[in-house]
Amino acid sequence: MIEDTVSIKITKTPNSRLQEVDWDNLPFGKVFSDHMLVMDYKDGAWQQPEIVPFQSLQLHPATSAIHYGQSIFEGMKANRTKEDEVLIFRPDLNAKRFADSCIRMCMPVVPEELFTDLIKKVVDLDREWIPKKEGYSLYIRPFMFATDDYIGIKPSDNYKFIIFTCPVGAYYSQPVRVKIEEYYTRAAQGGVGRAKTAGNYAASLYPAKLAQEQGFHQLVWTDAVEHKYIEESGTMNIIFIKDGKLITPSEEKDTILKSVTKRSVVEIARHWGFEVEERNISVEEVVQGLKEGTITDAFGAGTAATIAQIAAIGYRDEVFDLPPLESREVSNRIKNYLNDLKAGKIEDDMNWLIRF
Ligand code: PLP
Ligand code: COI
Repeated sequence: MIEDTVSIKITKTPNSRLQEVDWDNLPFGKVFSDHMLVMDYKDGAWQQPEIVPFQSLQLHPATSAIHYGQSIFEGMKANRTKEDEVLIFRPDLNAKRFADSCIRMCMPVVPEELFTDLIKKVVDLDREWIPKKEGYSLYIRPFMFATDDYIGIKPSDNYKFIIFTCPVGAYYSQPVRVKIEEYYTRAAQGGVGRAKTAGNYAASLYPAKLAQEQGFHQLVWTDAVEHKYIEESGTMNIIFIKDGKLITPSEEKDTILKSVTKRSVVEIARHWGFEVEERNISVEEVVQGLKEGTITDAFGAGTAATIAQIAAIGYRDEVFDLPPLESREVSNRIKNYLNDLKAGKIEDDMNWLIRF
């Protein structure tokens, strides 16, 4: 049972689509659960949230978010145990990051506790949509955008906050091939790289497309000033294993999205006794480490991507293959631990899950 901390108006769908789901062939992000939560901001306050049947939105052509990009989102996952208990991984960190994104994008903050409570409510109502199959989960997508119908440039006075959910399989179905990007830029210091805002993803599409044409799945971004330091990948933070230590770009810089998954990897690895360095990592250090074999493992960390082991890293005209997956003791151990934890198969020693 979830406590009623907020009054929500609920209209259930008369026509559930649950029976139509092909649970064995779930593409990422194309199947949507029965309900969604909508909460409007107007007259300087959040209005009563409503859960309604999943449906299209009707928007004014001058809707401010479409023109000027005041639009932010989050992503997290819920799993369901054999005993039908729902587990959500660290939503408090997403609530905090969403609030930070609101501030950076000049949008009203959704109070963190309310954010988490609303997620619990909408997931609880569609709990039958949470896949039970191994490797599958319910992806939760809260987002918010400016709804003033006005074409001048100013922070909107009105916003829509929505949460919908999708039963999903893996985002990457195989180890990823990434390319170090030395010309295009994801984020510059003082920009919006730390906010989970729509434009960051739009800006990445063209350079990512060029890399895909060369046979890579994703880019590894470098800093905007010198293209000398590793930042992160398209949908995940990056971690290398060098000389047995975990090294990962520090998220102190405001050009990197603070990943909930990466934070969890860092915390669990330290807990297990690994040395972890969060610091500047130069492209040169990575290339040299790959050439000399001191870098033995590399992986991305993200909610959708989970732990995505890196098969190969492209740099200029060279491609460096990483060791076979069987030898990747550290990333295999972390991946299995996080998968098992999120699925409720092992003890939640770190107290990272909420359950209902
Ligand atoms: N970096 C970017 C740009 C992302 O889109 C994501 C995905 O959310 C991540 C990193 C990983 O963050 P998290 O682990 O919180 O999902
Ligand atoms: C997530 O992992 O939640 C993301 O936001 C990645 C996404 C763009 C699919």
